[in-house]
Order: sequence, then structure tokens, then C-alpha cells
Amino acid sequence: MPDALDESPAAPQPEADVVIVMGVSGSGKSTVGKGISTVMGWEFAEGDAFHSEANVEKMRSGQPLTDEDRWPWLESIGDWISGKEASRESAVVTCSALRRVYRDLLRRDRPHVRFLHVEAASDLIEDRMQHRPGHYMPPSLLPSQLATLEPLEPDEPGTTVTNEGTAAAVLDRSLNALGLRKDTTS
Ligand SMILES: Nc1ncnc2c1ncn2[C@@H]1O[C@H](COP(=O)(O)OP(=O)(O)OP(=O)(O)O)[C@@H](O)[C@H]1O
Ligand SMILES: [Mg+2]
Repeated sequence: MPDALDESPAAPQPEADVVIVMGVSGSGKSTVGKGISTVMGWEFAEGDAFHSEANVEKMRSGQPLTDEDRWPWLESIGDWISGKEASRESAVVTCSALRRVYRDLLRRDRPHVRFLHVEAASDLIEDRMQHRPGHYMPPSLLPSQLATLEPLEPDEPGTTVTNEGTAAAVLDRSLNALGLRKDTTS
């Protein structure tokens, strides 16, 4: 006769881990974010994909977005993250998140969000962006992006990496900085 007390309870499903890869345009967010997604097996989303058509047009024509343009965009990314938290799926999403207020909006009521700030020297970004085909963010927006950037503050969850060296090296440092390094000794 089966004894119900012998049945072990199902292991609790771990909470989601959601990493927002932030930084100015061309800093390497998509490259690092996709790398994290591949290594960790996490879903990846491009924050840019949550922009309205009007925002995309504005950026394509070289006009900086206003905060009024940004709030609905950030809310959409936040909604996506909330879905991941609710289903306890870890994920990685890119979002420039240059200002503290944007980051505060993104993580409000979302306890499993943390940031990875990808920093790169402006001359390196300019050089890389000149060689990037088919992308709507022109290099002329870089100075305004750098002027807007507010680095992570000590009370914000997250960490910063410098985009120097190969993409593989940057990914490696990012995984280490996030404490996601998988054991490669086996
Ligand atoms: N470590 C690296 N070494 C060489 N090239 C790199 C490295 N990291 C990124 N790149 C290249 O630099 C360019 C910008 O990188 P990426 O597209 O990842 O930046 P991004 O922050 O996502 O930009 P955006 O905000 O405009 O989407 C790309 O062409 C990418 O292939
Ligand atoms: Mg990108």
C-alpha cells in the first residue's frame, strides 16, 4: 500500500534571473547579451524590438528620443520581464537604460532584475559602428548618448564590464562578473 509520506515533494522551481544588458549604442550590448543567452540557455530579447514604429523612425532620422518617447518603450520591456519573472524563466534583454530613472522604472516591482553595464571607449565604438551594416542608429547619436549616460550607482543591482578585447573575452568577463560562470573543469 503506497504511503503518501514517502513521496518527496517536488523541488521548488528556482526564481528567474533577469539580466538587462545596458550601455550606449554600439557599446556591445547585443553581442554580450546573445552570448549570455547562448551559454546559459536563457531567452534573449532585443530592447530595441519593443520600440514603436514612430520611435524607430525618429532614431533612423538621427533625432534623439525624448523621455516621453521612452516611457512606453520601457514599460513594454518591463512587461516582458514581468512575464519572465512570473513563469520563473531566466532571461537576458538589451536596453540602453542610460539614466537611473529608466533603470528604476525597469526594476520597479521586479525583484529579479539586475544590470550588466557594457562600457567601451568612444573611439572604439565609433570605429565599430562605421563597420556595422543595416543598423538604424547612426554614429552621430553617440555624443548625446555619452552625455546622457549615468553609470550604475552603488545601490543598484548589477555590475560593469569593459568591452575590450575579443567578444569571447568580454563574454567570459561578463559571466564571471555576474557570477554565472559555469564549471568548465568537468
Ligand atoms: N569585443 C568586440 N570586438 C569586436 N567587435 C565587437 C565587439 N563587441 C561588439 N563588436 C561589434 O561592435 C558593433 C556594436 O556591437 P553591438 O551591436 O553588440 O552593440 P549594441 O550596444 O548592441 O549597439 P546598439 O545599441 O546600437 O544596438 C557590432 O558590429 C559588433 O559586432
Ligand atoms: Mg544592439
